[in-house]
Amino acid sequence: MAETMLKKEYAKAELLKLNNRFSDLNGHAPLAYVHSFGCQQNVSDAEKLKGQLSQIGYDFTDDMTSAQLIILNTCAVRENAEDRVFGTIGNLKKFKQQNPDTIIAVCGCMAQQKHIAQKIKSTYRQVDLVFGTFAYNDLYQMLFEVLSQKTRVFNQTEKITDISEEFSQLRSDKLRAFVPIMYGCNNFCTYCIVPYVRGRERSRKPEAVVKEVRDLVSDGYKEITLLGQNVNSYSYGFAALLKEIDRIPGKFRIRFMSSHPKDASKELIDTIIESEKICKCLHLPLQSGCDRILKLMNRHYDKAQYLDIINYARSKKPEFSFSTDIIVGFPGETYDEFCETKELIKQVKYDNIYSFVYSRRSGTKAAEFEDNISDKQKGLWLRELLLEQRDVTTNWLSRFVGKTVEVLAEGEGRLADGYLTGKNDEGIIVEFKADKKYIGEFVQVRITKAMNWALEGESVEDK
Ligand code: 5AD
Ligand code: SF4
Repeated sequence: MAETMLKKEYAKAELLKLNNRFSDLNGHAPLAYVHSFGCQQNVSDAEKLKGQLSQIGYDFTDDMTSAQLIILNTCAVRENAEDRVFGTIGNLKKFKQQNPDTIIAVCGCMAQQKHIAQKIKSTYRQVDLVFGTFAYNDLYQMLFEVLSQKTRVFNQTEKITDISEEFSQLRSDKLRAFVPIMYGCNNFCTYCIVPYVRGRERSRKPEAVVKEVRDLVSDGYKEITLLGQNVNSYSYGFAALLKEIDRIPGKFRIRFMSSHPKDASKELIDTIIESEKICKCLHLPLQSGCDRILKLMNRHYDKAQYLDIINYARSKKPEFSFSTDIIVGFPGETYDEFCETKELIKQVKYDNIYSFVYSRRSGTKAAEFEDNISDKQKGLWLRELLLEQRDVTTNWLSRFVGKTVEVLAEGEGRLADGYLTGKNDEGIIVEFKADKKYIGEFVQVRITKAMNWALEGESVEDK
């Protein structure tokens, strides 16, 4: 442990020297381009990588071609995310020939998988550094090895180290912040690669989480999203953590994701409803509305148990908002079984659905299941689901018309000039007429119209 720390400190000091020399020669700091694919956890990881990089003298750029260090932080959940990364790396081949001193790194969930690391090693020689999700804290040592020894470095360690609380972060947003409360997943849903690339569940100490949120609020952050693959299995009690964060003084809102339906308790719903700052919405990934498929997915709940939670929440607060994830075309799923999912969507009335065609992930259990439906057919089912959802959501969103809701104004709107955009408590996009001076503030907005992708309204403050 002590030896690792020494190596890390040494590498850090040497990198800082190298980068200072670069700045002296070029009149500007070396630039890093850090791009994340996939989920919010990845965004959060990238903010920590950027925090480390800024401590050794890097500045940041959005222009990949002007960078001295390119980091692609990848996602492995579906094949198309992987294809996009391979496309980006492929396009960098010529760039690397013309800019041999630029370091190209691939990290994250894809890079954790040995077969991917092997593929990059043999086929994508333009990549200098490939490191998985357990190696983020070794960034300095890995980068120093690449630069000082002019070698390629591959680090797919599976060794779990203690959760480090001594990281600096460079956050990409000034208003909304992601705060991981736990890492990894123990559930092994049969379609999912996450437990293989992020390891078993580890929870951060509540004191550390609460301190981070407190600091963010005093820095002016207005929306805190707690992250975990399954926040309901937070070791120190999720409802208790929520209650404690809710008591932090200041005007801000709390969101969290994701909740596994098997662990979403009535206590959780009560905590949300009784709280002051927790948004009255729950992202509850359904995946399928058919009991046989849920069993094959190893989800540990059935349709009735899922509806029980929904009904409980709606009995306490009829307009309680739910969003969900759906997988279309799981191996062996029939059209009738897919229709059961469509039925459940109508019954639940979601405000938002993230739906995906099943993607085979090698190493998972479902990858071995027989799958007779073509991707083309699954694509048609997905379209059918999206059409169904459009009607359901538009109808359900109309419950807000005529009401005044609180919106956190994020920036200029898309609808027309003079509009701002933001989200209400339920996480629904609201486009509203208001002065630009409200950007970054909570605004009271009277809703005039429900569209299938957003609500429209006008600020009450300007009246
Ligand atoms: N294929 C399609 N979708 C997947 N998801 C996870 N694994 C797969 C897969 N192999 C979806 C689930 C999950 C969301 C984050 O991604 O719906 O909730
Ligand atoms: Fe994947 Fe299931 Fe874990 Fe979510 S709960 S990350 S879907 S294995």
